[in-house]
Amino acid sequence: MMDGRLQVFAGNSHPQLANDIMKSLEAPLGRAVIGEWKNGETRVKLDENVRGSDVFVIQSICNPVDHHLMELLLIIDALRRASADRITAVIPYYGYAKQEKKTSGREPISAKLVANLIVTAGAHRVLTLDLHAPAIEGFFDIPVDHLRATPLLAKRFKQMTDAQDIVAVSPDAGGVARADDFRTRIGAPLAIISKRHPEADETEVLEMVGDVDGKTAVIVDDMISTGGTLVEAARLLKARGASDVITAATHGIFAGDALDLIEQSPISKVFITDSIPLPNGWQSKPIELVSIAPLLAEAIMRIHKDLSVSALFY
Ligand code: R5P
Repeated sequence: MMDGRLQVFAGNSHPQLANDIMKSLEAPLGRAVIGEWKNGETRVKLDENVRGSDVFVIQSICNPVDHHLMELLLIIDALRRASADRITAVIPYYGYAKQEKKTSGREPISAKLVANLIVTAGAHRVLTLDLHAPAIEGFFDIPVDHLRATPLLAKRFKQMTDAQDIVAVSPDAGGVARADDFRTRIGAPLAIISKRHPEADETEVLEMVGDVDGKTAVIVDDMISTGGTLVEAARLLKARGASDVITAATHGIFAGDALDLIEQSPISKVFITDSIPLPNGWQSKPIELVSIAPLLAEAIMRIHKDLSVSALFY
């Protein structure tokens, strides 16, 4: 149960997730107007006293990305100016994370700029989930609690499948640690695919290390954006003899026609969290939704009570 000093507000990025978190916390969301002025600018007005409170702001930086980022910044600014004691930005999906380094000259490091903006607005802490690159934690000079969805995804996967011969697959070199964690939790071997991006948002798989012949392959990834990585990986796995291909991923962006592409691919099921609202019609697709609301609620309560958050990783 929440005590009087804990307050939670949310932007408009994911009302369902915010409500589910509050259900777990058994408390109502803080009252606020978060909308738009007629000129298109974002408008924020807190309708509750927050002076001296420990305040959490829930907002995924998902599409429309810049609009949701601006809402988050303005809510934090309003809380700071209204004398909130401590402000934690709860960011289930951290947008701009794929731009965490320069891949060629004359590019921004957008993930760092976003971190600067959140800190400058007045956040004292960040609570987030499966950052695309763990190094983004270091872009903040404030505490970051970085949760992982792997324990939840692996647990649900184990409950829902009776396949015996399973192999966990990382679709790229950057995801090996995540896939290895998943593999350990379900007790399976590991395979690794090597991929490259010939153009922005295009994927080409090059090679694979590991044996998938006759096995159920589970591709473990942090996000599904265009779906290109998954679909290409699934084709390779099938070509190497996998009997079935399943996916477990944290952030379901499903940009453009990604859902249709996946449905037409050899992938039979997608385990995905609700860090981002899924596109309309997802219920008719082979998708298994794993809610992160109880995990985020527990983390909020632990941060508020100064308890360990790393205990949630096991
Ligand atoms: C890449 O490094 C990530 O882990 C994901 O594999 C990638 O971002 C997914 O994007 P898409 O669905 O557009 O291939």
